[in-house]
Amino acid sequence: MIDDTAEKTLRGVHDYARQNYIMILSDECERVLRELFAKYKPLRVLEIGTAIGYSSSLMALLSDCTIDTIEKDSERIIKAKQLWQTLGVADRINVFEGDASQILESTTEGKTYDFVFIDGAKSAYKSQLEFLLPHISQGGIVLCDDVLYLGLVRGNEKVVHKHRTIVKNMREFLAYIEDGSLFESTVLEEGNGIAVVKKL
Ligand SMILES: C[S@@+](CC[C@H](N)C(=O)[O-])C[C@H]1O[C@@H](n2cnc3c(N)ncnc32)[C@H](O)[C@@H]1O
Repeated sequence: MIDDTAEKTLRGVHDYARQNYIMILSDECERVLRELFAKYKPLRVLEIGTAIGYSSSLMALLSDCTIDTIEKDSERIIKAKQLWQTLGVADRINVFEGDASQILESTTEGKTYDFVFIDGAKSAYKSQLEFLLPHISQGGIVLCDDVLYLGLVRGNEKVVHKHRTIVKNMREFLAYIEDGSLFESTVLEEGNGIAVVKKL
């Protein structure tokens, strides 16, 4: 349960992000994240894609978790740190600055997570989840936003060149999570598509 003051602060950051075209999770994904935290109460969380700290703040307020979060943009990290301080959750959030493709290994070395929020580079979802597999506990949950990417991933329409790589990679990601041997998964059509994945 998040207190009213913290909810108010989060709402302000949410509105600021929307007004300034700063990417934060969709409202639909936030609803799913809140439900998952109420159900599973995860304690060890990894996030790829911190941005200005909105979703990490939310997660830190929803459970007593500690969070490792990765972001390549240093200015966003400064904003995120300010928000964590304001909300009193800074001591439970460790931010790792850099390109996830280069620092994911060192960030996660020797660690296991019971909740992973993949919300960084869309083309990398599959390779990141493949890498993270041994770092996710059995029954651990992986949440991914934007998996239907502009409605193009499940559609039949011709994909223009600039979106082709993301769409191809996202289709491979969905095939990977829906194969049934490693995960139980649900892909919700809400927002830009939300995948909820449970490691078997
Ligand atoms: C959708 S935003 C994250 C939003 C955040 N999870 C939230 O809901 O508040 C994606 C973020 O991922 C970061 N990002 C994209 N590619 C990345 C990469 N390869 N390594 C690290 N961060 C990356 C972007 O800079 C951006 O801030």
